Order: sequence, then C-alpha cells, then structure tokens
Amino acid sequence: MNERRRGATEKPVADPARITELIASIAAINDTPADQGITRIGFTPSEKRAHKQFSDWLCDIGLTVRSDEVGNTIAEKVGLQSLPAIGTGSHLDSVPGGGRFDGIAGVVAAVHVAELLVRHEIPHRHPLRFVAFVCEEGARFGQACVGSKAAGGHWSYEALQGIRDSNGISIADAIQRSGGCPSDVVRAIWQKSDWAAFLELHVEQGGQLEESGVDIGLVDLISGSTRFELVLEGVASHTGSTPMHLRADALTAAAQVILLAEGIANDGRHRGTRVTVGKVDVHPGSITTIPGRVSLWVDVRDIDSGRQRLIADEIVRQARAVCDARRVALTPRLLSDASPVVLPAWLRDVTTTAADQRGRSYRVMYSGASHDSQMVAAVAPAAMIFVPSRGGLSHVPEEWTSANEIARGVEVLLDSIMALDKLGESGDCSV
Ligand code: GLV
Ligand code: MN
Ligand code: MN
Repeated sequence: MNERRRGATEKPVADPARITELIASIAAINDTPADQGITRIGFTPSEKRAHKQFSDWLCDIGLTVRSDEVGNTIAEKVGLQSLPAIGTGSHLDSVPGGGRFDGIAGVVAAVHVAELLVRHEIPHRHPLRFVAFVCEEGARFGQACVGSKAAGGHWSYEALQGIRDSNGISIADAIQRSGGCPSDVVRAIWQKSDWAAFLELHVEQGGQLEESGVDIGLVDLISGSTRFELVLEGVASHTGSTPMHLRADALTAAAQVILLAEGIANDGRHRGTRVTVGKVDVHPGSITTIPGRVSLWVDVRDIDSGRQRLIADEIVRQARAVCDARRVALTPRLLSDASPVVLPAWLRDVTTTAADQRGRSYRVMYSGASHDSQMVAAVAPAAMIFVPSRGGLSHVPEEWTSANEIARGVEVLLDSIMALDKLGESGDCSV
C-alpha cells in the first residue's frame, strides 16, 4: 500500500483495500439477490440509501454535504481562496441486474480522493466538490443522466413532468417522492462561473484497455444517443383459426424491423454506429394468440451527431415500409436525444500529464456509453478517466475492475485535480 513506484514522485498512494471496502458497501445496497447482479434503480429507496452512505463518508471526514433540488449529492471541501470549484464524481444507480462498478467506481474514486486529501493534509486553493449524481441510467425513463442534465441546465419542469416510467410515474413525481423539488429544477443548474473543471473516473465498459494492456483511458469524445419507441399495431386473433395470409402479426413485423436496424448499423457507410433493440413488449403475450401489439425500444449511438439522427430517421423510414407491407400500423415516439460531446483538449492534457508522471500507460479513446460528464460539459470543462473493464463487460453482473486498477485511476484523478488547482497560481493563467 505504501510502496513507492519507480519514477513516481512523493505523492499520496491510493489504497486498494479501502477501495474494495467502499465498493462492497455500495454493492450491499441492492434490490436483487447478489447472484443476480446489482439493481439500484434511479429514485428508489436503494439509490437514496447509497447517496446517504456517500454523504456519511464525506461528512465523517469533515466535508459539508448538501442535496440539490433533484437529489444529486454534493460535498465540498473548502479551498484557501475564493475561486471556482474543481469537481469529481459519477452516479450510484444501476441498470436492472447490472454490475458493481458502473458509476460506483467514479463515486468511490471521489470519496477516496477526498480521504487522501484529508489524510495527507494537502492544501488546495480551489474549493473541491465531490458529486454523486442521481438516475444516470436510462433504464427507468429511457432517459440517461437525469441528475447531471439538471446540473447542465438541460431540463425544464415541464419536461420532467412529460416523461414517465412503465408505471406511469413521471420523472417529476419520482423526484418529488424521493424528497426533491422538481419545480425548482433550474436552481440545480451549475453556474459556469462557479466551476473550473469536472473530472469523472469511470470503468471503460469496453475491452480496449484490457486487450492492449493499457492502464488508463483518457476520453476525447462521448458518444451521443437517440432513443425511441416503435409501437407496432396489427390484429390479435386466434393462432389456430387465422390463416397465415390473413394475418397482421405485429411481432413478425417487429422481428424484421429489429434485423433491418442491425443491418443499417452494420452498413459500411456507418462506421462506429451502434444500434440496439434492448427491450421488446409483446401483447397479449399468449402462445395461442397472434401478437396484436409490440413495442420496441431502439437505442442509436454514434460519435457523429448528423449520422446519429440520419440513422434514427432511416430506421423509422424502413420500419414504416415493412409495417405497411404487413398491414401493421407504426407509431414512433422519441424518448431522448443527446448529441456526442467533444471534451476539451487542454483538460485532457492535464490528465495525460498526470498519467505520465505516475508512470501509467494510457491511450486516448472515445466513449461508446453516455456519462454524466456529457451533461456537465455544458457548464464546466469536463474530462473522463477510464479504467479497464474485465472482458469489456458492463451492465451485467459479471462487470469487473480490480481495486488495483481503480487505485491507479484514483491516483491519476487526484494528481489531475492538484495540477488543476495549481494552474494559474503564479498569475500566468487561471482556471
Ligand atoms: C449509460 O450507462 C449508458 O447507457 O450509456
Ligand atoms: Mn455509468
Ligand atoms: Mn451504465
């Protein structure tokens, strides 16, 4: 733990045992049996308990902690000067049956950075903020990054009222029920003048770092996503007495739509596009009834915003042709639309220097997943530090990153924050 590394200067060393303990404490807050992964959905009591745990950790080491209007938890360590803040953090919710690291690694990294700063009595000029965002996963509302969208100023109260989960509960209701104040969502917006930078550590959720044996990924671009529901309505009827040529089977039409969506993503012109139909509802869902209605949830991800929207339109256009030919009605409904975001090069340079000085290998890469930093980037310069994901797996119980790998990321995160804190110290430039 206290080992010195060759080439490293005298710097605080992250503690993998403590990281393991922090991760395990959050993983214990789980709505599914442990062998079925982690389920901690946004705006549920479990997510709230995880935020309470985060808050307790930071209160215990003397930080001031508050909740904003949507339920994001923000802890502050006061700086020596009156300057804009440097922040770090991520999210504590999960997908259903997900893993223990997505989001959590970044929150745990934030807690551990705070612990190291306190333990080593490291002075800093800027206020430092440690953030746990609510409801980052799109699992409940089809909307990613609910909490960080509030920080980034992307929500109105009306928009929060207009988006519902499968039980008809709107985001606004969900925030209210968990103790927030959605009608005041604009008060959760981060003021640009109040933030110098925000850095997020996250698991890669892909296999590039592991495959290449590289310690750290530094993100230059975060993919955008367009998500929509396609409702296909045919005619439900008896499977025995309805001849094949007289059917309007919504599920066979849906099957064709799923394959055409995959085909569009695989088209050579669309390098790097990812299209997924991750959820299908079939009504009435009986083996002896022709499916009369099917809902498909489609997720289009891209690093090119124009192509992302063109492909979403193309899927709907081709789906309509399929449905027309099968006498099935098609109704598309947009769920969310977020553009890819380019992260500032100057801030990535700070993180690459930090990785270099710790003797860590790194590569610059884009993120295929959405992240809170994508939303925060509208109000604060943002950077992301990736650590390897075993087998590239994420959003599944098998998701895994070792405590040593997270510790390396924590050290790069800490050093980046301290380097940012020193920028402009001599008055030559300021953050
Ligand atoms: C967030 O986890 C995403 O779906 O990209
Ligand atoms: Mn995440
Ligand atoms: Mn996720």
